Order: sequence, then structure tokens, then C-alpha cells
Amino acid sequence: METNHKILFQNANNLHQIKDNSIALMITSPPYPMIEMWDGMFSEQNSEIKEALNNKDGSNAFELMNQELDKVWNEVYRVLIPGGIACINIGDATRTIGGNFQLFSSSTRIMNHCLKAGFNALPKILWKKTTNAPNKFMGSGMLPPGAYVTLEHEYILILRKGGKREFTKPHEKKNRQESAFFWEERNIWFTDIWEGLNGVIQKLNDEKIRGRSAAYPFELAYRLINMFSVKGDTVLDPYFGTGTTMLSAMASARNSIGVEIDSNFKDTIIDRTKAIIDYANAINKKRIQQHLEFVKKREAEKGPLKYNHEKYDFKVMTRQDNSLILHDLVSCEQTSDNEFKVNYASNSKEVNGSVTMSSRESNRETSINKREFLEVSQIEQKAGRLNASSLHNFF
Ligand SMILES: C[S@@+](CC[C@H](N)C(=O)[O-])C[C@H]1O[C@@H](n2cnc3c(N)ncnc32)[C@H](O)[C@@H]1O
Repeated sequence: METNHKILFQNANNLHQIKDNSIALMITSPPYPMIEMWDGMFSEQNSEIKEALNNKDGSNAFELMNQELDKVWNEVYRVLIPGGIACINIGDATRTIGGNFQLFSSSTRIMNHCLKAGFNALPKILWKKTTNAPNKFMGSGMLPPGAYVTLEHEYILILRKGGKREFTKPHEKKNRQESAFFWEERNIWFTDIWEGLNGVIQKLNDEKIRGRSAAYPFELAYRLINMFSVKGDTVLDPYFGTGTTMLSAMASARNSIGVEIDSNFKDTIIDRTKAIIDYANAINKKRIQQHLEFVKKREAEKGPLKYNHEKYDFKVMTRQDNSLILHDLVSCEQTSDNEFKVNYASNSKEVNGSVTMSSRESNRETSINKREFLEVSQIEQKAGRLNASSLHNFF
């Protein structure tokens, strides 16, 4: 099995290289309107934005910034397949402009536009961020009514192009089954409040992009990819930044296309791919370990589980997660200037050093056990920039 990953360094407001109805999932985090760090970038894209900001016209600046984003959401709608899903991570902004403190609700503005563009809204996720900021409270201290509620969360808007995606052919159904997640993962991933996903450390070694990363956690993209696409699908991120979506797609056996206006991100993206094999395989291993722990606890409390996994020698909760396969990465190669190819273990049973194979696999087991698997924490140390700091909370 092989996946391909491509980066386009350009404005995402015109994605003519990408065919209509060709992308299964879009995951992204755009520049946030009215958050100061993005003023310059928005102003470069439309000079009227700079004017509006200079004139202290917050409402107009907010609207014009969103109009830049709208162009990209329209393109996303065009390229998604019927039943394809768009996940937009967005935070609202609070800002004092012209002496007036206000909320600029990008989540509402984006949702309204996407509905007009034709999307159907699905239940959204509220991502509660961990903040230790000592001065997080704003306004007039303890004096009513001039103190303001602190924004400590962002949203992940979830939108669908049309109705439910169809899987009709036998090979499509099989691939979908192999793309399943564990029952106990479902119970965490599909709750509408996500906590414990720490923000990514914003420090970057590269001077050219320092202060511009605004990367989301690997786990955020990894979850969404596994929740809303199947193996072999193509995932698009039109605001690519440091390429977190691509790394998560690589780890999940999906193809990807990233679009980024600032080519200064290139070295960082390439750098991050160098650690993806160890990192992705450690995640696979961790997921299996967590599952084995879950089975042990559940069986101790409620008796034996009913279903044996078809390939791995462990039990699962339901018929739906009994054929899921986690693919280990074997190689990640840069095939051209902005393209990468990832190869996966050809035999799905070669996955995960922690899995005890059934007896008919015992000869294989020996070789599996000889393979050296790094723990997630070791990878974290090795590849700080992948930022796995919250993996332990996550899995
Ligand atoms: C919030 S960051 C995305 C961070 C990314 N999720 C990550 O994990 O690194 C937004 C990115 O969008 C890029 N950007 C802004 N406007 C763009 C546009 N019109 N087309 C393509 N990229 C754009 C910025 O340069 C920035 O890297």
C-alpha cells in the first residue's frame, strides 16, 4: 500500500489544479479574522482590509477578512466528493477597536457562509484549550457589568457536501471496515467537547516563519482523519502551515494535498516528515496497547467480550471494529520538489510489536518481536517539532 502527498505553494482561493468531486475530507485551520497576528496576511490579500483597520472600522475589516476565507470555502465545496466532509478549526476573536471591545464571531460567520455555499451542517466540536495564562480575565476586574467572559475554546465546524457518503462496491465496503476505529475510541472521539489536546508549542527553529505557525495538535487532525475518511482517501488542507494535516494523513494511510501561500514553510514541513515513520508506528503501537488495556479492564468488570478480531489476536467490542487494520509505515520518500510517497507494511499483520499474533502467525511473531519499537515518549523527545506532547492524554 502506498499514499501520495503533495504541497501547492499558492493562494488557496483558486484551486483549479484540483478536480471537482475529488477530495473526501478537508481539514483546516485558517488565519483567524481579527486576531492581530493575521492582520498583515489578510491585508496583503486585500488592501481594503488594511484601510478598514487603520480607520478602526472593525466590522468592515472582519467582513472583508471573511470574504477572503469565503473564496476558499467555495473552492472546498467544489472539490469535495458528494458526502465529503469539511472540518474547520476556528476560534472567535475578542478585540478592542476604536475604543470598543467586541466579539468577532468567525465561527458564526463561517458557518453562515458555508450553509449558503451549499454545505449541510453536522454537530460541531468545541475544543477546550488548556490555558495557564495568569492574566486571562479581561475588563473591569470584579466590578459589574464591565468584566468579560474569557474565550477558552475554539470550534471544529463539521460540514458535509450533500447526504451520507455511499460505499456500494464490495472492495469499498471492505476498505471502510478496515478503516474502523475501536469502540472505546469512538466513545472519546465522538463527544462534542474535546479536552486534553494541548496547543502546539509555537516555537520554531526557522526565523522566516517564527510567530506564524499557529499549528494545531497532531492529534486533532489524526482524530478527524480517522473519524471522517477511509484509507486511500485524499485529505485536503488549504491553509497548510507546518503540514500537520499531511503528517496525520501519512500516519492514517490517507493521501493528502496541502495548500500554503507562504513557501517559507517548506523546510519545516520537509523536516517534520523525517520523523513520521517512527512517530506513526509508535501511535499504532500505542493504540493497540490502549486497546489491550481496555479489553483487560472491561473483561474483569463485565466478563468476556463477544468478538474476536479477524486478524489480530485480541477481542473487540463489536462486529464493526473486528476487521480494522493499523498500517505501519515502512518508508517516506520525497519524490519531487513538493511531493512525498509513503509505503506501508504490505502484510497488515506485520503491524505493531505489541500485538500477540495467533498461533498460526507464531513464526512471524518471532520476527515482529525482534523489531525495535520506540515508545511514543521517545519519539516525542526525538522529534519535538511533531509535538506529540499530548499524546498520552489523547490515546
Ligand atoms: C492557522 S495557520 C495553519 C496551521 C496548520 N494547521 C499547522 O498545523 O501548521 C494558517 C496558514 O494559512 C496560510 N494562509 C493564509 N492565507 C492563505 C491563503 N489564502 N491560501 C493559502 N494559505 C494561506 C498561512 O500562511 C498559515 O500558514
